Amino acid sequence: MDPNLLPPEILDAERGFPQALEACTDLDALMRVKGLYTGRDDSHAVRMMELLKVAPKEQKRALGAAINGLKNLWEEGLKARQGELETARRQANSLATSWDPDLPPPLPTRGALHPLNRLMDRLIDIFRPLGYHVEEGPEAESEANNFDGLNIPEDHPARGSADTFYFSAHKGRLLRTHTSPVQVRVLQRVAPDIERLGGIRFLAPGRVYRKDEIDPTHSPMFHQVEGMLVGHDIGMQHLKGTLAYAMKALFGPGADVRFRPSYFPFVEPGCEVDVRCPLCGGSGCRVCKGSGWVEILGAGLIHPNVLTFAGLDPKIWSGFAFGMGVERTAMMVSQTPDLRLFFENDQRFLMTMGGLD
Ligand code: PHE
Repeated sequence: MDPNLLPPEILDAERGFPQALEACTDLDALMRVKGLYTGRDDSHAVRMMELLKVAPKEQKRALGAAINGLKNLWEEGLKARQGELETARRQANSLATSWDPDLPPPLPTRGALHPLNRLMDRLIDIFRPLGYHVEEGPEAESEANNFDGLNIPEDHPARGSADTFYFSAHKGRLLRTHTSPVQVRVLQRVAPDIERLGGIRFLAPGRVYRKDEIDPTHSPMFHQVEGMLVGHDIGMQHLKGTLAYAMKALFGPGADVRFRPSYFPFVEPGCEVDVRCPLCGGSGCRVCKGSGWVEILGAGLIHPNVLTFAGLDPKIWSGFAFGMGVERTAMMVSQTPDLRLFFENDQRFLMTMGGLD
């Protein structure tokens, strides 16, 4: 091609063509360059054709060849660059939406029983072979069942409104402060039939309420499992044997358990059962308050007044009762240092609670 045949602005355009292509980072920019060089109106190609029309006859051949050569060069360059940019765009798109149809789908999180319910179920399973069945009572109780029937005197501090939630609109009604009122309900129900039954033994799991501040070992709502056995000539040996068996079933044969004399108005004698703190191994920590032991049970032989109140003759019938703190026990079994974790229901915590099965 003879460069002298073409005007300087076309020659400039031709020199600038490779950079113009290179500068296009997307297809829109490339379309603009394409319009400028080879578009149907007002492009370098159109202007070259106009030059050809007015060129002297003897130049037409050579000029036409030069123009065609340039147009072909531009069209090929544009096409090649368009191919590159399209490939780049496809790759970017496929990265953004990349998915592997062979991957297994994400597993849906499975629903499960709460660790506290699992522990209560486990206790029930431990006691069932010993002949215990499950009883229930309401969380909204009468003062009579929560206190009177349990030999708790009128002036007992636990009856005060500083410790107990009373319903202001219903005199004599409260949120039960322990599961022991189920003792009263069951004894009263079975009293007429107790001869035929030969006694009774049951567990009563459930929620209880006390005006306690929330901290790592206290909550105004917590759970207990009540246990009761009524029969003939029942003594501390039966209570100790039963609870020692249950504690070993729960904490393992090596569990360290101690019985300590204590006082509850509805038992005589009364005791508390401690387990050696599994969180610190007994050296003392926040959970065991430095003592190395954690109280998880109150227990004792049923007070004669409780039997009498329910309509049973204490000269014929005797028995034992116990009340276990479920959160305390769950903390010990699962080595959880803060009972609030059981109520916050963070799934990451709940999923690690397999030890309570
Ligand atoms: N009800 C008692 C408490 O809540 C526990 C207990 C139950 C004690 C049965 C003795 C017998 O602390």
